[in-house]
Amino acid sequence: MELEEIKKRIKDVSEKAEKELLEIVEGESDKLEIWKVKYLGRKGEINNLFALLPHLSSGEKKEAGMLINEMKEKLNTAYEERISITGKQEKHKINLSFPGKRPETGSFHPITIISREISTIFTKMGFGIVTGPDIETDYYNFEALNIPAEHPSKDVWDTFYLSEKEKILLRTHTSPVQIRIMEKTAPPFRVIAIGKCFRRDDIDATHSPVFHQIEGLMVDRGINFSHLKGILTHFIMELFGNNIKVKFTPSFFPFTEPSAEVSMSCNICKGNGCPTCHNTGYIEILGCGMVHPQVFRNVGYDTDEFTGFAFGMGIERLAIIKLGITDIRYFFQNDLRVIKQFS
Ligand code: DAH
Repeated sequence: MELEEIKKRIKDVSEKAEKELLEIVEGESDKLEIWKVKYLGRKGEINNLFALLPHLSSGEKKEAGMLINEMKEKLNTAYEERISITGKQEKHKINLSFPGKRPETGSFHPITIISREISTIFTKMGFGIVTGPDIETDYYNFEALNIPAEHPSKDVWDTFYLSEKEKILLRTHTSPVQIRIMEKTAPPFRVIAIGKCFRRDDIDATHSPVFHQIEGLMVDRGINFSHLKGILTHFIMELFGNNIKVKFTPSFFPFTEPSAEVSMSCNICKGNGCPTCHNTGYIEILGCGMVHPQVFRNVGYDTDEFTGFAFGMGIERLAIIKLGITDIRYFFQNDLRVIKQFS
């Protein structure tokens, strides 16, 4: 074959190869490989062109050889560039035979679960939900609740003071919310408040310096202890089941008179006696009573017209009983293996 003819062949092959290469698009890496074999492969078009050279004179051989090599290099580079285009989609190709990846889903903390359940029970009985600040003053946390300075009952609440001089503290219970609500609400009303409380307790299986309480307050004309008993008994049965026995025992709180502690039959041993209930068959779960007249006077309520009841309980304690969690520390360690189990 003449040199001129070979040069024309080189030009044709080069143009054809480039045209075909440009037609290969994203995701078609299999087509790209076929193209590579066709042009750059051992028995491909380029090597076919080299096979034509032996018939030429040495000067012509050199010239044609250089042209073919140039083209080979050009096509090689074009091939490499094309890989980045065709390969791009490859990563996103779906292989339907692969097992699926389950997305991580979140779960609610057990305290959130119980708090919501409790809120639902009370809202069904017409209670509104209110909140108050975690940082309180001595007045709201103690004094307005009829717990005077220097009174021995104050020792029950071992307090974190943020400023002892200005009497600013982390609330030791949710009872100050009672005062804040009464100051701005005219009776009748019924509310619950849920939130964090803080006490300088040493940490052990049943004590944590941070914990949660739920507070209840109902004020109206003619409210008496039977209303309190009815509401709380219904609440406990809704939360723990109708077979639970509820017991009211006289107690003392400065902000209620009379005051009571409420216990429920131990749902772990069914009242037969176990370590959780200290073999008594009953577990104490909340404090309650009729709002002390002094507390009403502190917020300007007419004690001849209105009476009310209040109650307060620890949510961790209820969660421990309901969910069978054995140690209060689990609620705060955020070990997902523990807290994921309950939602
Ligand atoms: N605040 C009390 C405490 O933390 C619990 C309590 C008892 C709240 C009786 C009340 C109540 O509203 O009436 O120990």
